[in-house]
Amino acid sequence: MDAILLPESCHVDQILNDLDQHGFTIIDKVYPPDIHTELRTTCSNNLNYFREAAIQNGVVSHIRSDHILWIKDDSEFAKAHLQLLDAVSICLNQHFYLGIQTVEAHFACYNSGEFYALHRDNPQQKNDRVISSVFYLHQHWQPDWGGQLRLQDKNQLWHTIQPDPNRLVLFQSDLLHEVLEAKQQRLSITAWLRSGTQLW
Ligand code: OGA
Ligand code: MN
Repeated sequence: MDAILLPESCHVDQILNDLDQHGFTIIDKVYPPDIHTELRTTCSNNLNYFREAAIQNGVVSHIRSDHILWIKDDSEFAKAHLQLLDAVSICLNQHFYLGIQTVEAHFACYNSGEFYALHRDNPQQKNDRVISSVFYLHQHWQPDWGGQLRLQDKNQLWHTIQPDPNRLVLFQSDLLHEVLEAKQQRLSITAWLRSGTQLW
């Protein structure tokens, strides 16, 4: 992991405090507009390669219906974002001793009518995902377009988070959450900060 600086949009004390108190944090206006646009363009230009997303039991479209494209470690795709997540990982390791070693990421596209039912990214600590992250790539989002991330925080309180463009949400991978049905195309990069190096 490269030790690069976090951008000014990332207020470290706030991020650490939110994660500690609530198990999640929201960071807005993460990148300068040109980098946000570049990440979105990379995603949009590759939509032909997206595949139906699977859950542990394979593709089950009544649980999730989005399409994804894994971002390989060595690819130039989304490098700026992977570097930011590496920097976040180093910061979280220093403060919470989380032992994060790797970041895995995929682009995700929810077309109109698509959703992801209630789930945890790391049920019963079955995998080594520690922190989940979602970064929203689309250019605009209106509240009546659905697609909200609903998340139960570590104190069992529910939050409805708008998928605002250029917004990053970080949350503990063991928290319950869902993506409500989107009514417009919803583009994102989902990533997991993991404590192991082996892909399962
Ligand atoms: C996921 C997920 C949330 C979102 O991909 O596991 O929960 O807001 N995504 O896209
Ligand atoms: Mn999830």
